[in-house]
Amino acid sequence: MHANVQPHVLDMRMIESVNNSIRHLSPTEIRSKMKRRSLRRVSIKPSSGVANDMHSGSDWDKAEFVLEELRRQCDTPADLLYRLVEDMVEEMKAGLAKEGGSKDYKMILTYVDKLPSGKERGHFYALDLGGTNFRVLRVSFGQDGSTPVFQEVSIPQEIMLGQHEELFDYIAGKLAEFVSKEDSSYHPRPGCKRELGFTFSFPIKQTSIDSGELIKWTKGFAVEGTAGKDVVQALNEAMERRGLDMVVTALVNDTVGTLAVASLAASKADAGDEVMISVILGTGTNACYVESIDAIPKWKGPKPSSGNMIISMEWGGFSSSLLPRTQYDEALDAVSVNPGEQIFEKLLSGMYLGDIVRRVLLRLAEEAALFGPSVPPNLLIPCILGTPHVSCMHQDKSSDLQEVGRILSNVLGIHETSLELRKLVVEVCSIIAKRAARLAGAGIVGILRKIGRDRSKHDGSSSHRTVVAMDGGLYEHYPLFRAEMKAAVVELLGSEVAENVLIELSKDGSGIGAALLAAAHSKYSRYGW
Ligand code: BGC
Repeated sequence: MHANVQPHVLDMRMIESVNNSIRHLSPTEIRSKMKRRSLRRVSIKPSSGVANDMHSGSDWDKAEFVLEELRRQCDTPADLLYRLVEDMVEEMKAGLAKEGGSKDYKMILTYVDKLPSGKERGHFYALDLGGTNFRVLRVSFGQDGSTPVFQEVSIPQEIMLGQHEELFDYIAGKLAEFVSKEDSSYHPRPGCKRELGFTFSFPIKQTSIDSGELIKWTKGFAVEGTAGKDVVQALNEAMERRGLDMVVTALVNDTVGTLAVASLAASKADAGDEVMISVILGTGTNACYVESIDAIPKWKGPKPSSGNMIISMEWGGFSSSLLPRTQYDEALDAVSVNPGEQIFEKLLSGMYLGDIVRRVLLRLAEEAALFGPSVPPNLLIPCILGTPHVSCMHQDKSSDLQEVGRILSNVLGIHETSLELRKLVVEVCSIIAKRAARLAGAGIVGILRKIGRDRSKHDGSSSHRTVVAMDGGLYEHYPLFRAEMKAAVVELLGSEVAENVLIELSKDGSGIGAALLAAAHSKYSRYGW
C-alpha cells in the first residue's frame, strides 16, 4: 500500500525534528521513540523539486512522523491477528456458557433453528430497521417471476434521537402508507392479518421468535425509553394505534436474514456448500453463525430437531486490549453516543471509518499545517467525511488523483492540492481501511475456528465448503476493502483451508430473509418449516 509515496532517506532535518520532539522525554521514552523512528520505511515528504509547489509553511517532517506513527499503531501483523482470534474464541465460549458470560459478545439466541426450505408460500412483509434509512418490503413466495416490492424511507435525525413512541408511530405510519397503495389481491383473508418479519439490527435479548428487548442502541440511535422494552410489542401496538391489520411474526437481526437467504440460495444451487456464517459490514457490523445446540450451555429449551441454533454474536462489542487503537479512535469513541461500547464496530464499520480519516487529517492540519497556515474549517465538522468518500479516494486510479482533489475541495473545502498532498491523503485512507479489513478477516477466522472449520479436511471436519455470506455497503462498494479482508483470511487459514471457505456477497437478505422467516413462522399459513 506504499506504492503511492516516494521513498526518501532520513535526513538531517528529520534528525533535528526528532531532537525537538524528544526534548521533554525520559531516557527510556527517548530510546523507545528512536527505535520506533528507525522503523521508518518510506517518506511522504515531497522531493525537492516539488516542495516549492506545496503550501508554504507545511511541516513535512511532522506530517511524516504522524503518518509513520499511524502506520505503526494500525499495523495488524498475522501474529497479532492470531492472538485476537484466540481472544474471540474465548469470548464466544463465555457468551454461550451463560447470559452475560462474555464482557464483549452477547451471543444472542435467535430462536432460528432451521434454515428455509423453499416451500414458503404467500405474501409476506418485512420492515428492515438498522440504519439511517429503513425499508419496507413485500415479498410473494411461491410465485414464479414475482419480484419483491421495496420502499425506502429515511429516518429524520429528531426521530433517531427522540422518544420511544414517536419512533414506532413513525414506522407504523410508513407501513400504513405502503399497504394503502396495494390492490385488493394483497388484502389478508378474513380473520387474518398481514404478517411481518421485523429486522431490527440492534442488540436485543431475544425471548422467542417474535419477542425481544432492546439491550442498547448502536449506530447513532439514541431513542429514549426503548432500552429494556420489547420492540415487537412496541411495533404491534403502534400498528394497532394506526388501525393497521398487520402483526409481527418474526423478529430477526440483519445477519440472520442474510444467512437465511444465502442458505436458501445455496440449497437451490445444490453444490453441497454450507452457509454457516453471515457478516454485515455496513453502517454497523455484526456476525451470526450456525452453532451446535450442544455447544450452547445457556440454552434451556428443548433440543431442536436440527441440533443447531443461529447465534447472533453482536461482534461489534469486542473490546480486547490487543485491538490496535489510536488516539483518533479514542477521541471518536469519547464523543460518540455510546462511549466505551462497540469498540470493534468503531474500528471497522462504515459509520466510523470516514471520521477516523478526518481526525487524522485534522491533526495533520493542526500540527503540520499541511493544508495551509490555517485549519480548513470543514475539517472540524464531525462526520463530514463519510466512508464512501474514503472508498472513493482510496480507489482513485487517475494519475493525478482527480477524485481525491474533488473530494478534498467539495467536501473539506481544501482547494488546489498538490499531487503529493493527495497521495498522502490516499495513504491515510489506505492505513485505516486496511486495519478495518484485516480485523474483519480475523473476526471471520475466529468463527471458523469456533465451529472447527479452520482446519483441512484431513482432520475429519466437514467435507462441504463453508460459505460466509456477506452484506453491507462497506463490503459491497469498497473492492479494496474486500480484497484486504479476503487476503487476511487466506493468510490466517493458509491457502489449502481457505480454498474451502467461500466469502460471498449475498444482497438484500436482511429484508427478504425477515419475510422468509415470517413465512416460516406464519400464524395462518400451513407452510412452516
Ligand atoms: C448492531 C447489530 C447489527 C449490525 C449491522 C450493529 O450496530 O448492533 O445488531 O447486526 O450493526 O447492521
